[in-house]
Amino acid sequence: MPIGIICAIPPELIHLRALLRHTTPTQVAHTEFASGTLDGYDVVLAGSGMGKVNSALVATVLADRFGCGTIVFSGVAGGLDPELAVGDVVVADRVIQHDTGVIENGRLQTCQAGHVPFINPTERLGYSVDADLLDRVAARLADFTLPRATMRFGTVLSGDQYLHCDVTRQRLHRDFGGLAVEMEGGAVAQVAESFGVPWLVVRALSDLAGHDARFDFREFVEEAAASSVAILRRLLPVLSPSARHRPAG
Ligand code: ADE
Repeated sequence: MPIGIICAIPPELIHLRALLRHTTPTQVAHTEFASGTLDGYDVVLAGSGMGKVNSALVATVLADRFGCGTIVFSGVAGGLDPELAVGDVVVADRVIQHDTGVIENGRLQTCQAGHVPFINPTERLGYSVDADLLDRVAARLADFTLPRATMRFGTVLSGDQYLHCDVTRQRLHRDFGGLAVEMEGGAVAQVAESFGVPWLVVRALSDLAGHDARFDFREFVEEAAASSVAILRRLLPVLSPSARHRPAG
């Protein structure tokens, strides 16, 4: 079973596309799925476009049509935890869709996607990474360092909004303990879980989601995306025990 890899935007995709070998393209909907090998591992790589609907569509195709055994998102995010800096890396152990729920008295009460307290209620909020996968990932990264970057495991928040607002970033960090915010991971997790496919989200910080976010993003997106790719490549051997490995040569 190949490893499915999703990126949202070209700066995230470009490094991986350049590393892919033995490539076969398949067009589905708006997306080209590139089947091939990455460092000898069978993968299917797709650039979904931004947002939860785009990434849900692509995750669905990876699970259902390509039979991927694991689905990984690699890309950039805005930092929420004040202890993190641009360039640091967050590996999600949990993702929450922060923008779904009930609006009452002018304020959103976040609920699990597809649930509100009076229709199909649930206590659940967010999606957790498969425990075995997380153990393997943590072990594989234990002695791995990136120059000048901190690596943290924790909660990543997803919503269909690009955040450059200091007040909101503080609230999201306070309300959910989110380390980083992005626009796709929660949808990938929801779809993957529904297919019974383990998933992972790796994000390097291109900005800190505050009022300077759009300028920082432009300056740092490529460097951050490259850091995420470095982590992903390190993790390939543990991402899918069933992924075929073809040594180079
Ligand atoms: N991806 C990278 N930076 C982001 C931000 N500030 N908000 C949402 N998604 C992002």
